[in-house]
Amino acid sequence: MNSIEEHRFFLKDTLRKSVDFRQTDQNRGVPVPPLQKPRKPDAKIIPLPARHQWKERIDRKDLLSAISERRSQRRFLAENLTLDELAFLLWATQGISDPSGKNPSLRTVPSAGARHSFETYLFVRRVSDLAPGLYRFLPVENALLFVSPVEHMADELTMACFGQRHAGSGAATFVWSCIPYRMEWRYSLCAHRVILLDAGHVCQNLYLACRAVDAGTCAIGAYDQEKIDTLLGVDGEEEFAVYLAPVGKV
Ligand SMILES: Cc1cc2nc3c(=O)[nH]c(=O)nc-3n(C[C@H](O)[C@H](O)[C@H](O)COP(=O)(O)O)c2cc1C
Repeated sequence: MNSIEEHRFFLKDTLRKSVDFRQTDQNRGVPVPPLQKPRKPDAKIIPLPARHQWKERIDRKDLLSAISERRSQRRFLAENLTLDELAFLLWATQGISDPSGKNPSLRTVPSAGARHSFETYLFVRRVSDLAPGLYRFLPVENALLFVSPVEHMADELTMACFGQRHAGSGAATFVWSCIPYRMEWRYSLCAHRVILLDAGHVCQNLYLACRAVDAGTCAIGAYDQEKIDTLLGVDGEEEFAVYLAPVGKV
């Protein structure tokens, strides 16, 4: 197979017919991997406003306008996002929507097999009541975990996205990493294609949710893999970045 054929093959679901699903880790009885990356007990945790708290403070936006106004934005105002707004955007992209709040696989976005193989990292630059730095969203706890301060954040993000200045010029930059094993546990070799399909839903919800808070975003798929993974502090094998989106007021 030449390389174009190989890459086209990846887009197809042909493999499904040759994978022996009896041999997946799930069907061999391997325990299910957690839907949220574990954290150290002494990690610095910042609780986020719960949905019932931000709900009244976020403007209602009708769906028709949100969809028709959706546009990639690459210029942002120097205004802050509020913590309510950030909590809303995180909820819209990876939040748990199970009415009982107990089932972490029922979220605001669909996912193949409800495996939700993403972690959400945030490079925070201008969010009220939040120190700048790198954070990770904990959907199960509806909280942020402080990962580390980041020096020269805007420049680092720009460089890591091949000079795209908008990557680091928003109030916060969302970076979604994937932990492929979460999906491989159920789907084995058929996992990888659906991981990227899942990512599209997440980013589309970010685009639409931004319209409710006078913000905008721009999907970024062109980035230096090693540089972004290093900024995130992930190993690049068991976890690595797949998609970015800066968010700012517009
Ligand atoms: C998968 C994907 C990757 C993208 N990567 C980039 C990118 O690296 N840089 C960028 O400025 N825009 C990127 N975009 C945004 C597109 O350029 C944009 O969606 C397109 O020009 C259409 O404009 P619209 O979103 O305003 O309709 C990406 C969009 C998608 C869906």
